[in-house]
Amino acid sequence: MAKIIALLNQKGGVGKTTTAINLSDILAAQGFRVLGVDLDPQGNFSKVISGGESRFESNVMSLFSRENSEDISKLIFKKNSNLFYIPTDIRLSRVIEAGLTLSFREHRLSNHLDKIKNQFDFIILDCPPNLSLTTTNAIVAADLFLMPVNSGVFALDGLEDLLSALNEVNQGKDLPYYVFRNEVAKPNKKINSAIDEDLLSIVNDRVLRASIRRSEDVGQASFMYMTLSEYKKGSVVINDYKALAKEVKDFFCNTISITKG
Ligand SMILES: Nc1ncnc2c1ncn2[C@@H]1O[C@H](COP(=O)(O)OP(=O)(O)OP(=O)(O)O)[C@@H](O)[C@H]1O
Ligand SMILES: [Mg+2]
Repeated sequence: MAKIIALLNQKGGVGKTTTAINLSDILAAQGFRVLGVDLDPQGNFSKVISGGESRFESNVMSLFSRENSEDISKLIFKKNSNLFYIPTDIRLSRVIEAGLTLSFREHRLSNHLDKIKNQFDFIILDCPPNLSLTTTNAIVAADLFLMPVNSGVFALDGLEDLLSALNEVNQGKDLPYYVFRNEVAKPNKKINSAIDEDLLSIVNDRVLRASIRRSEDVGQASFMYMTLSEYKKGSVVINDYKALAKEVKDFFCNTISITKG
């Protein structure tokens, strides 16, 4: 049964999509069956994972439309034998607005994913940089929340709001969230350590050991619509994503097993 992981942070440009892509890619390369779901109308996850497409006739947006009769398995695209995705494009933003009045609107995604959960080991949700309807759906659906923060001056802005949104949507449920640092640059050690102290005070001990270093390989790969391992097999940053993948697997420890497709 798939473990569902949401990449969350309403702050933009912190590394949600890049991490969703490369974490999916690495877990798939390790033999797990992975489904990536793009919940951001910007569609960046979809563009990269599809190798440059920006419009998708079958699209995650139909899960949020009024009829609610869509068969989710018809929306799944295949990248390789272990890596699958449900894409989106810019039209999702209109559907979200229209969906605000739907009943059980926050449970749409979770209910749909329940039907296909047994076909995957991991389902990775890439969220938009806001607390819109698709984000609240991801919050309801996910078993684990990963929040990238970068080392900018405003890195921690909004983290408290995000945590209270998690609490609000997930009333009473345990909140397995973890923060990890993205775009870590060694020369910025001073700033990094100042942030670490702030981070630790807001999120207690919920900071992952793994962090993703800053590297132009990451931007270049996305620019070429490639995962990092497709773009540069030997990139050192792949080791960072592997360390992140290991912590994710450790979090679920004995409860994951490889699904045969
Ligand atoms: N480790 C890294 N090293 C260098 N550049 C990075 C790294 N991680 C992300 N970036 C770059 O930072 C930018 C933002 O990354 P990304 O799109 O993953 O963030 P996001 O949180 O998904 O943004 P949004 O909130 O707009 O969805 C991209 O141009 C990406 O290439
Ligand atoms: Mg993104």
